[in-house]
Amino acid sequence: MAYSGIEIGDDTMIGEFSAIYDCNHHAVDEEHPTKYAPVRIGTNVWLARNVTVLPGSTIGDHTVVAAGSVVQGELPPRVLAVGNPARPVKDLQVSDGWERQGRPGRIARSQSMMSTTKESRP
Ligand SMILES: CC(C)(COP(=O)(O)OP(=O)(O)OC[C@H]1O[C@@H](n2cnc3c(N)ncnc32)[C@H](O)[C@@H]1OP(=O)(O)O)[C@@H](O)C(=O)NCCC(=O)NCCS
Repeated sequence: MAYSGIEIGDDTMIGEFSAIYDCNHHAVDEEHPTKYAPVRIGTNVWLARNVTVLPGSTIGDHTVVAAGSVVQGELPPRVLAVGNPARPVKDLQVSDGWERQGRPGRIARSQSMMSTTKESRP
């Protein structure tokens, strides 16, 4: 459920167990009210498995966030960002209009399973 707004661009992919928060849900202490802040995720972004995006974060177009990372604040476009807090570790070569392939290994894997099954037949 979005509280203050979550914007996700076209062709963006979100890995399993990832979470995007635009609200912290609870106050940390009595002097700091619960934080509500919109999140903006650009186009053709890839959040790998188990990425957490915290309130107020922005992720630029074409950026990739590695598995297990926690995004807090602003990530520029076209970078690989890793860790907690996620920080850019390399620039990505991505032209406008280029889309990441979806699960290219899946076909190869199922073909190899089929061929294993065939070969193991008596
Ligand atoms: C995003 C990803 C594919 C990038 O892979 P890559 O381009 O091969 O990245 P590299 O291995 O070159 O990593 C670059 C640097 O980031 C570090 N790094 C990569 N992934 C990291 C992670 N999840 N957490 C912390 N550091 C990480 C590497 O150690 C490396 O550091 P170094 O330069 O000091 O050696 C990969 O990090 C990842 O998350 N894979 C899992 C994908 C996934 O979750 N798929 C299923 C759901 S869609």
